[in-house]
Amino acid sequence: MVSVVVDYLRHIESDCVVNNVGELADYIPELAAVDPDRFAVSVAVHDGHVYSIGDSSLEFTIQSISKALTYALALSLRGVETVDAHIGVEPSGEAFNEISVDARTRNPKNPMINAGAITAAALLLAPGDEDGTTDVGDVDEAFRTILDFYSGCAGRRLSLDDAVYRSETASGSRNRAIAYMLESYGVMPADPEDAVDLYFRQCSVRVTTDDLAVIGSTLANGGINPRTGRRMLDQVVVRRVLSVMTTCGMYDGAGDWVTSVGLPAKSGVGGGILAVLPGQLGIGVYSPRLDEHGNSVRGVRACRHLSADLGLHMF
Ligand code: DON
Repeated sequence: MVSVVVDYLRHIESDCVVNNVGELADYIPELAAVDPDRFAVSVAVHDGHVYSIGDSSLEFTIQSISKALTYALALSLRGVETVDAHIGVEPSGEAFNEISVDARTRNPKNPMINAGAITAAALLLAPGDEDGTTDVGDVDEAFRTILDFYSGCAGRRLSLDDAVYRSETASGSRNRAIAYMLESYGVMPADPEDAVDLYFRQCSVRVTTDDLAVIGSTLANGGINPRTGRRMLDQVVVRRVLSVMTTCGMYDGAGDWVTSVGLPAKSGVGGGILAVLPGQLGIGVYSPRLDEHGNSVRGVRACRHLSADLGLHMF
């Protein structure tokens, strides 16, 4: 069985690696310095077994894939009502770093673009409510909470890439502009500098495709990590997160993705993509060359293959 699955994944690899289209993210030197030809696919099945090929133990930064996880954590710790009062669930149809908000509420349109992700991080920093929600504390404590949570979903201890974090911080004017814009609208629930700092840290967490596949299988499995048996999220939070990933996870490429691949997913400029087949699979893919939306070119191609060949499209 193992060799059949691995042979199949190698077949995908041989089709994908001939594609040299796309550019490395280059807004910070660390992302531009990676080997553009790296490629990995990992698939975690319902019992947590992970099938993988290629550079599946190579670490890269999680980047925007973190947006789905921190949104999940904010929903868990702050409750759906509080989070909904600050972040919408409508696709924006705009680039991930667009300085945009809902015209009526002035809230970010969804948690998968930077404005919404910075707000989700800010919600973790906001003082606990009188209704007894957890007080997470300052940026260091909030990041420990984030790292514990991501690690629990991955089933192993994850760590921060300090060089990427420092570079993100040094080149983050646009994200600071977004945070201050939200503050000027009166919708930023914490200090804008702290919110952006926490967001930069979460983007700089190192993962492998095996980690992404296990995180995906935790979401596929209703919030219980199938490798550790530990419940990381309530089913109701998982449903919400997967719904928003379906409509907004691949940015302004989301419509094309849903049509062709048909799975909830989230990409990052580090070259990773996390995809989920609810009830069944978690998928992690990696290859650092990106398309015009910021999604991995080979990663999207590999997911199209998996979806078409294995009949994974949800509809
Ligand atoms: O906000 C940024 O610039 C990055 N740290 C994360 C961006 C990202 O991964 C967007 N994705 N495709």
